Amino acid sequence: MTKQWWKESVVYQIYPRSFNDSNGDGIGDLQGIIEKLDYLAELGIDVIWLSPVYDSPNDDNGYDIRDYRSIMNEFGSMEDFDVLLAEAHNRNIRIVMDLVVNHTSDEHSWFVESKSSKDNPKRDYYIWKDGKDGQPPTNWESAFSGSTWEYNEATGDYYLHIFSKKQPDLNWENDEVRSEVYDMMKWWLDKGIDGFRMDVVNFISKHPDYPNGEVQPGKQYGDGSPYFMNGPRIHEYLNEMNRQVLSNYDVMTVGEMPGVTPDEGKLYTADERNELNMVFHFEHMGVDGGEMGKWSLNGWNLTDLKEILSKWQYELEEEGWNSLYWNNHDQPRVVSRFGDDGEYRKKSAKMLGTCLHMMKGTPYIYQGEELGMTNVAFESIDQYEDLESLNMYNERVNQYGDDPAEVLERIHHKGRDNARTPMQWSAEENGGFTTGQPWLDVNPNYRTINAEEALSDEDSVFHYYKRLIQLRKENETIVYGKFDLLLEDSESIFAYTRTNGDETLLVLCNFTKEPVTAELGEFASRSGDVLITNREEERTEETQLGTVELEPFEATTFVLK
Ligand code: NOJ
Repeated sequence: MTKQWWKESVVYQIYPRSFNDSNGDGIGDLQGIIEKLDYLAELGIDVIWLSPVYDSPNDDNGYDIRDYRSIMNEFGSMEDFDVLLAEAHNRNIRIVMDLVVNHTSDEHSWFVESKSSKDNPKRDYYIWKDGKDGQPPTNWESAFSGSTWEYNEATGDYYLHIFSKKQPDLNWENDEVRSEVYDMMKWWLDKGIDGFRMDVVNFISKHPDYPNGEVQPGKQYGDGSPYFMNGPRIHEYLNEMNRQVLSNYDVMTVGEMPGVTPDEGKLYTADERNELNMVFHFEHMGVDGGEMGKWSLNGWNLTDLKEILSKWQYELEEEGWNSLYWNNHDQPRVVSRFGDDGEYRKKSAKMLGTCLHMMKGTPYIYQGEELGMTNVAFESIDQYEDLESLNMYNERVNQYGDDPAEVLERIHHKGRDNARTPMQWSAEENGGFTTGQPWLDVNPNYRTINAEEALSDEDSVFHYYKRLIQLRKENETIVYGKFDLLLEDSESIFAYTRTNGDETLLVLCNFTKEPVTAELGEFASRSGDVLITNREEERTEETQLGTVELEPFEATTFVLK
């Protein structure tokens, strides 16, 4: 196992629109991030992953890019970006940018040209197909509802958009497209950025035949994902990108990859294959999914969650490297999802942080996770901004006739705006995020959950995360130790060891609001020192590890003696 700085780092994701507004227009911006760099340095993170800051018409909040080489007006200017990069580097914080190259905005000049006529030089930059009997070329469903195909009057055919119709897919089969992308990547890397998080990058190679997808009962559209996820040329493209661009810089890369399996994960991340450093898989994010996909409200089982996460730990033990995350800008808040956002909010947030950070891989923190920020339940659909939620709501209510209250409930639990409500800095109006009208309402709980409060409380989730991050720098076992799952069948306890040479760490996490006992026969003769704990009542005697009593939502990490 080779040692690398990105294996020893903790990444913090910033969703700029919701992070900090410096000029009172209600939208977060680059100067706002600069103002908070000391806060991030205090937390101790090593790398910032910046969600897109490029010029965009904001159909999908910047994941629809109009110009890869300029900064979105609302966020500031390229000068602001340069200051941000320099100021972050001054604090030993690296910056990883979002690379969104499965698609562009339909307002990108390439697409404006491409759609204008069949003989335009940019025509083959995108994926154009003829319809069949007045219908779109395939039955595929877009990730944001409706068909993946949009008809274009000027040329009488359809273009592919796996996401919204304002996000046309680029044609990676075209050599010119690939070299444009590589040039753009070099342009940013030459500025001194430290890597890329690559948006749905395992979607860039499409199956050449464009077959119809399977249609589930009761559904109008088919599932095209087998024909665009991990497609036939994906490894060739990533290998080429590595050779031509990435290998010339000391950077980190993480590919966002819905539908990726551990076998594929190894192919993407094994050192000798020269593709990427890590992938984001989504298996654990699907643990509470069901018939309605992510919108299902079926609950989840700890045994399923453990099975998924430990499978990835074992599979990538020898080859490749894991990324570890509970949250991002597309997911509900973890304390509401797998913890308890009521009485045990702080305690369960710390437990979840421990469970994640003690596994093997690079941990990612999403803004506000370090405060234990929660989901929000807005009363009206009009308070939501995310196109995924709004499209789903319209489809379910207007086409399928579902009860609007029930659809709203799904959005309360699963909608992406849970992650996107403004960062809660203080108990001041709008959580101190803006002096103006925020683009998305602030979660009303900002009066009690905010950074100012967390910084002043030694026992806060913030201070606990700070300690978790610090420990990674002091203890190599946390970074490089081998993972082994214990108590596989327990529905209450997530338990595992990490072993590195003579040192073994034992991590015990209670996922329930009841006290529980961890029976660990194999450690009957062993005792341990506490490395970190969120326990309220101190253990007076040295703990014998054969039988360990755990408080509700307790997480304790022992160093075995
Ligand atoms: C994944 C991103 O994380 C999400 O926010 C976005 O909507 C889609 N990719 C499309 O770019």
